Amino acid sequence: MSVLHSKKILLAVSAGIAAYKAAFLVRGLIKKGAEVKVIMTPEAQNFVTPLTLSTLSKNPVEWEFFGDKGDWNNHVEYALWADYMLVAPCTANTLSHMADGTCDNLVLATYLSAKCPVYFAPAMDLDMYKHPSTLENISKLESFGNICIPAEAGELASGLVGEGRMAEPENIIDFLERTIAATLPLYGKKVVVSAGPTYENLDPVRFIGNYSSGKMGFEIAKAAADLGAKVTLVSGPSHESVMGYPIERIDVVSARDMYNAMHANFADANVVVMSAAVADYRPKETAEQKIKKENDDNLIIELVKNPDILKSLGEIKTHQLLVGFALETNNEEEYAKKKLAKKNLDFIVLNSMQDKEAGFQKNTNKITIIDKDLSMQQFEAKSKADVAKDILNVILNKL
Ligand code: C5P
Repeated sequence: MSVLHSKKILLAVSAGIAAYKAAFLVRGLIKKGAEVKVIMTPEAQNFVTPLTLSTLSKNPVEWEFFGDKGDWNNHVEYALWADYMLVAPCTANTLSHMADGTCDNLVLATYLSAKCPVYFAPAMDLDMYKHPSTLENISKLESFGNICIPAEAGELASGLVGEGRMAEPENIIDFLERTIAATLPLYGKKVVVSAGPTYENLDPVRFIGNYSSGKMGFEIAKAAADLGAKVTLVSGPSHESVMGYPIERIDVVSARDMYNAMHANFADANVVVMSAAVADYRPKETAEQKIKKENDDNLIIELVKNPDILKSLGEIKTHQLLVGFALETNNEEEYAKKKLAKKNLDFIVLNSMQDKEAGFQKNTNKITIIDKDLSMQQFEAKSKADVAKDILNVILNKL
């Protein structure tokens, strides 16, 4: 999923020929899942119609101070609404007015009111783009913390060839995605999450498994990706999905597969969250053919211990923040604290089968986080998506 997903983007269009590309920009941003509103300078309507942009953005387009409610405050409302403001095209005129604080149209007033990051994509003829006053205005806006999306080189509307035409809409969107991702708190960090059950095969058609759905681990993986992390999700058999998220998913079946995948991804990980419900034992032998019913009333299957993946990671950990889960039915705190120490964890997430909101297959969870210094944080019952955010907050504080 793009970092632009569900972000509110205010596109401010000023009066240059590149304004026709605003239509492609709106479409591209919407395709990324952003919510888009468009405002224009009055003259920009000569280059692209408000009707085109309102149809594509599915929002009314305005260019006057008096909004459709007849009030004066639409510039403030737009500015407060936006997560990001993008002035594209940003003509030499709008650029200079933004730099000197002029406030004689809706775009400029909204710009002055904006508290969100402001991006601007200059668009002008090559000599205008090179002019010292333009360069000074760009530097001035950058000194205010605004972000310039540099113009590109090519044929200009004047017929001249050079630098000055607005960056192509797909390059602007790329630029936004890259720079926004770089501001996220887990940008540059690798987070490895395990999820779901493991299946330990008895024969080609039967296995020993458990009721884990994988929901909790999948939500943790998504929450980490939303914070900009590079996420690897190692999942046992699960119907959950991470479609649309930039998450590397490795599907495994048995505990030993999971062991291998977790170890292969451990060395360069910054954070490892082991939320999978790993089978502690597996059949000593996996029959090559389906086990047949015999006359005996009992069938005895010999089980052998699986490796404790988390413990093995705890033994070799260097810089990694290591997080485990404990699902208990009784003596919850005591058992969880023992696991925390035995597996060399930074913290453990405890959920109790005694809580009706917690457990396998549920959409909610109720957790207590026990830190390695044994301090405890209790959380209310909430959706697994919100529980994942709480866990990620604790991780962020520790990083
Ligand atoms: O010891 P217990 O199974 O209760 O510990 C639970 C924690 O250990 C979970 O984080 C689980 O993913 C992990 N675990 C593991 N390998 C096993 C069993 C559990 O990594 N064989």
